Amino acid sequence: MQKRLTLLGSTGSIGDSTLDVVARHPDRFSVYALTAHRNGDKLVDQCLRFAPQVAVVGDAATAQHVEQKLRAAGSKTVVAHGPQALIDVSKSDGCDTVVAAIVGAAGLEPSLAAARAGKRILLANKEALVMSGDIFMDTVRDSGAVLLPLDSEHNAVFQCMPHDGAHGGVTKIILTASGGPFRTREPSTLVDVTPEQACKHPNWSMGRKISVDSATMMNKGLEVIEAHYLFDLPGDRIDVLIHPQSVIHSMVSYADGSVLAQLGNPDMRTPIAHAMAYPDRIDSGVAQLDLAQVATLNFEKPDYQRFPCLALAMKALAEGGVASATLNAANEVAVEAFLNRRIGFMAIAQTVDAVLNALQNRSATSLDVVLEADAAARRAANKIIDSLPVPA
Ligand SMILES: NC(=O)c1ccc[n+]([C@@H]2O[C@H](COP(=O)([O-])OP(=O)(O)OC[C@H]3O[C@@H](n4cnc5c(N)ncnc54)[C@H](OP(=O)(O)O)[C@@H]3O)[C@@H](O)[C@H]2O)c1
Repeated sequence: MQKRLTLLGSTGSIGDSTLDVVARHPDRFSVYALTAHRNGDKLVDQCLRFAPQVAVVGDAATAQHVEQKLRAAGSKTVVAHGPQALIDVSKSDGCDTVVAAIVGAAGLEPSLAAARAGKRILLANKEALVMSGDIFMDTVRDSGAVLLPLDSEHNAVFQCMPHDGAHGGVTKIILTASGGPFRTREPSTLVDVTPEQACKHPNWSMGRKISVDSATMMNKGLEVIEAHYLFDLPGDRIDVLIHPQSVIHSMVSYADGSVLAQLGNPDMRTPIAHAMAYPDRIDSGVAQLDLAQVATLNFEKPDYQRFPCLALAMKALAEGGVASATLNAANEVAVEAFLNRRIGFMAIAQTVDAVLNALQNRSATSLDVVLEADAAARRAANKIIDSLPVPA
């Protein structure tokens, strides 16, 4: 039966890759809703191509712009705006599958709405799970929703895990990491890194926020937290391994000494196609991996001195409660400030560390508690950033 998709964050990098897979399989997938924040023109192009019933944007002015363009082109797509509209298209009977690809905390409430409505959720928006881990996973369990990871590492782990729902013989998850653009750069020069350099990932083409997270390795830290919730393993059974080629997307090791790995070219269409068609396998448009051409696969341990954000994320996971939500919010504010040239690259870790130290941790007993922690961390991060020197 054809799957009907709501694609949250359709104008982003994951959105593009998802629509590429959709276009290859019109018999399998149709689009119920597409959502953007401010990029109305790109959303209009997508609507004219995929004819969703609903399109959502962030504000009234963008909605008016999109509506005018769609009507002029004869489109019947209904245009809505604002956070409630994102929630509405995520829980609507019009879709059975929600691709959660909004970046950052803004994706939490629509993703949770999809979980409450028992949808099949293809999760790229790792921040949602990092913020609200137990609440999100409990909601998925209680509603009978199906949660499939799109993040390439978690999708790889999912493919390598036993599929009987138990952890039969699993000893560890090994998340691979490319090490980003600064793996070998002289640490003393990291203070001079520019947003352009940080966004230039050696292997993956991604949005700006996740590109900076990859450069600080906060992305891998968020992924450790994500893996903890998705696969129900404690942090000390989730290893990070630097693998610069990004060919092995992650591994699972077993008690008998076996290590299962998932390999492929670094292209998000592979995990997206896997999750979209699961348990079937479909063409993703990605070329087959040529291992003879790759020739060499290298591995090394992560350097926690060079990448303090990775250590901060591990610490937040160990602390539990709202510490991960605090870490995530402080990081979002700091990355935005770095991209806007208000702080230097190393001040991202400095800000997150200071916010974690300044705010008291507490149990994540409800969504309101998590959202309060998120807001408090944003206030604290902005205050710290205001006191830091602007880079030359
Ligand atoms: N890119 C990858 O390869 C990759 C891999 C694994 C996981 N992920 C995860 O997937 C998510 C998306 O990443 P991305 O690289 O695709 O990001 P991106 O290219 O920056 O796209 C972000 C999308 O979210 C929308 N958006 C931004 N702020 C929003 C807000 N406040 N409210 C509603 N929508 C908003 C954007 O709309 P506009 O275009 O209108 O701004 C865009 O559609 C992130 O959580 C990331 O960690 C990405």
